[in-house]
Amino acid sequence: MPWNPDQYHKFQAERSAPFFDLLKLVHIRPNLQVVDLGCGTGELTKQLADTLPNSSVLGLDSSHEMLEKAKQYAGPNLRFEYGNQTELSNTWDVIFSNAALQWSENHQDLIPALFGKLKNGGQLAVQVPSNHLHISHQLIRDTAKKEPFRSALQGYNRQSPVLSIEEYTEVLFKCGGQHITVFEKVYPHILEDADAVLEWIMGTALVPYLERLGEDKESFIETIRKKLRKALPGSPVLYPFKRIFISAINTN
Ligand SMILES: C[S@@+](CC[C@H](N)C(=O)[O-])C[C@H]1O[C@@H](n2cnc3c(N)ncnc32)[C@H](O)[C@@H]1O
Repeated sequence: MPWNPDQYHKFQAERSAPFFDLLKLVHIRPNLQVVDLGCGTGELTKQLADTLPNSSVLGLDSSHEMLEKAKQYAGPNLRFEYGNQTELSNTWDVIFSNAALQWSENHQDLIPALFGKLKNGGQLAVQVPSNHLHISHQLIRDTAKKEPFRSALQGYNRQSPVLSIEEYTEVLFKCGGQHITVFEKVYPHILEDADAVLEWIMGTALVPYLERLGEDKESFIETIRKKLRKALPGSPVLYPFKRIFISAINTN
């Protein structure tokens, strides 16, 4: 999927707040082998590496565009590699992932698979957005169902794989997770207007649609812009962004 680092960075402060909330959940110990799944442009992976004394951190991502930006942060304890978060190899003291697992399907299987890649005493610490019921996301799905976009997208329409907090808790319990922490937090972003909400989703939720649309891309964006302006009139607008945090220790 062609990620655009510049578009993604338009709301960098808002997007990094949950990273720091996730970082607070990490049990800080020295000499850890750490992987950051879907590390993106790497500056937050660098923060992770700087927080963990004498650790070795790998940032993994499946976007060459994002990794190209990330490589400037590489150093003795931080490296970046191209790879798929669903095909993780080796075992780890910390498997960390901020705002990336929502791009992979079937969390009922993915979370246990990742949990199984933890060393004894290792920690899974993940944050995923859970705002798929927000009007902006509903408008994307509704618009994608209608012609001419439905044909242009060949029927593609993305349903979020993100589970409820109860489901994540159960999944972690079934894995034998210890010290299970699961919570959802609303980040009340105040954006200038509906167009700013569109800018936000162009960096994330719209990405898989835009890459499939070809010449209908601009008209898809403008259709959603019109609908968003109607749904979120005035200035400023509140963009209440929900995110789920999960953490557990593997002592198996
Ligand atoms: C929303 S960005 C988050 C980046 C970074 N973790 C942050 O907090 O800013 C999602 C990242 O997940 C990556 N990604 C999506 N699917 C992936 C996969 N299957 N394997 C590895 N990375 C993936 C994307 O390339 C993108 O860089």
